[in-house]
Amino acid sequence: MDYKKMVAQAIANVVGDDLDLNEINEKIEVPKSIKMGDFAFPAFVLAKVMHKAPQMIAQDIVEKIDQTGFEKVEAAGPYVNFFLDKKQFGKEIVSEVLDQKEHYGDQDLGHKGNVTIDMSSPNIAKPMSMGHLRSTVIGNSLAEILKKTNYNPIKINHLGDWGTQFGKLIEAYKLWGNEEDVKKDPINTLLKYYVRFHKEDQEHPELDDEARAWFKKLEDGDPEATRLWKWFREESLSFFMKIYKRLGITFDSYNGEAFYNDKMQPVIDELKEKGLLEESQGAMIVDLSKYDLNPALIQKSDGTSLYITRDLAAAIYRKKTYNFVQSLYVMGNEQSNHFHQLVAVLKEMGDDWADDMHHIAFGLITSGGKKLSTRRGNIILLEEVLDDAVKLAQEQIEEKNPTLENKDEVADAVGVGAVVFHDLKNERLNQFDFDLQEVVRFEGETGPYVQYSHARAMSILRKAGVDENTDLHVEGLNDPDAWETVRMLGDFPAMVKRAVEEYEPSVIAKYAIRLAKAFNKYYAHTKILVDDDQKNERLALVQSVATVLKESLRLLGVKAPDEM
Ligand code: ARG
Repeated sequence: MDYKKMVAQAIANVVGDDLDLNEINEKIEVPKSIKMGDFAFPAFVLAKVMHKAPQMIAQDIVEKIDQTGFEKVEAAGPYVNFFLDKKQFGKEIVSEVLDQKEHYGDQDLGHKGNVTIDMSSPNIAKPMSMGHLRSTVIGNSLAEILKKTNYNPIKINHLGDWGTQFGKLIEAYKLWGNEEDVKKDPINTLLKYYVRFHKEDQEHPELDDEARAWFKKLEDGDPEATRLWKWFREESLSFFMKIYKRLGITFDSYNGEAFYNDKMQPVIDELKEKGLLEESQGAMIVDLSKYDLNPALIQKSDGTSLYITRDLAAAIYRKKTYNFVQSLYVMGNEQSNHFHQLVAVLKEMGDDWADDMHHIAFGLITSGGKKLSTRRGNIILLEEVLDDAVKLAQEQIEEKNPTLENKDEVADAVGVGAVVFHDLKNERLNQFDFDLQEVVRFEGETGPYVQYSHARAMSILRKAGVDENTDLHVEGLNDPDAWETVRMLGDFPAMVKRAVEEYEPSVIAKYAIRLAKAFNKYYAHTKILVDDDQKNERLALVQSVATVLKESLRLLGVKAPDEM
């Protein structure tokens, strides 16, 4: 039931000639304080057409309006405030949640359309950074939200497994490499070679020529180059897989940059045929000045490809393979120029579907206000962050609930969940600071706080002997203290819709915090388990809160333990 529409309709029935239904609907506000009602209509929007003072118009509307379904409708200065019939609406919303369970909030916006999500995409032979974590968890959450709104998400890990850096790595390995070291600790060892290469090539520029030659060999299929590349890739990937497993995140495709090695020539040929390719100092470029962008460098003078060349082939491959209705790229906002170039080249080629590609950009994670970077060495390692978070969660559980049975499992869900939630509660584009102590707190606007609220609801239900199979038929709760929570439950479907339209998981995370807060406030003043004629109604509300909190967390990729 769309309550706002209902309010709009009631107003339209009175003033229909002066303002149409859609306009009224747009003007309706949700008052800051629940004391001012559930919806408010600013009557001054009618002052001009009606040639009357807004206060008068508000009075008029109140006198003429049909009050069915409302507890009351009153004028407050130039506003008309609407108070929904709490019992009636409480009954409707809670029954809906109890009926639909985790499917509450499901809606068909996507009609099963395919949406590719380019996400995570770490670089082989380098550690996975906090930036890659952001891409991974944002992408994963968007996939869940898309599924809930009946899109078909396809999660693609566009691994950074190709490019000149592999020439450098092979050259470095040939010079200083040791097979045993790589096997023991692949990522760190390979990173060490890479860093050493960058140091030494300052004084020995010929190293760069060697590296370029190796990458050229790799692109041409040289057996030794290919063998080393494969080996580095496998070692790195198995390491990344451990992290994905801890996060509980899977992918539908691991087609990284290398996958497109044999798919770039047709793109280059097409660019040539369409007269888009120009020579510039031996290299091949596409001029993008009409888009106000720098030229896209498509092929180096030695014939090797670039990051954007592989992305062009990937975009075209994805359109062909999945015929997507939308194609999302979850990457840092520092790649926005790259993304714009990519779309512009496709548009030049006449691929109008490029308009369905969206850059889901996100801001940096800083630490102590400072930017993180691999080169400068102040990098936060994702694995260590997860380990530390789990350790902190363990300590808190030990303190709060020492007799809990599956402590380790819960600590894992809370620690990992805390890191994921913290990342998602911030609007994507905001830069945010990472402070582990802050992230894992059980109070405040954290993941553990939401998980804890859910566990608390579950514990009430356990005490009452209520489980999924109990039939909690409701007649509507007659308790003004419960109203904020009830209303918020009613908001969930609209939140899901907003989250998918804005590609913004933070909408769900912030909502979960609000719902948890409202529920805790309710719980603090109310004896839920007292035996009176409203007990069943209260339990039904608690059950609904548990369901919606758990579903919100699931959409974020965070587990909701029943006890903690
Ligand atoms: N590997 C890149 C990086 O770590 C991210 C790739 C993003 N996806 C893409 N299709 N370009 O910066």
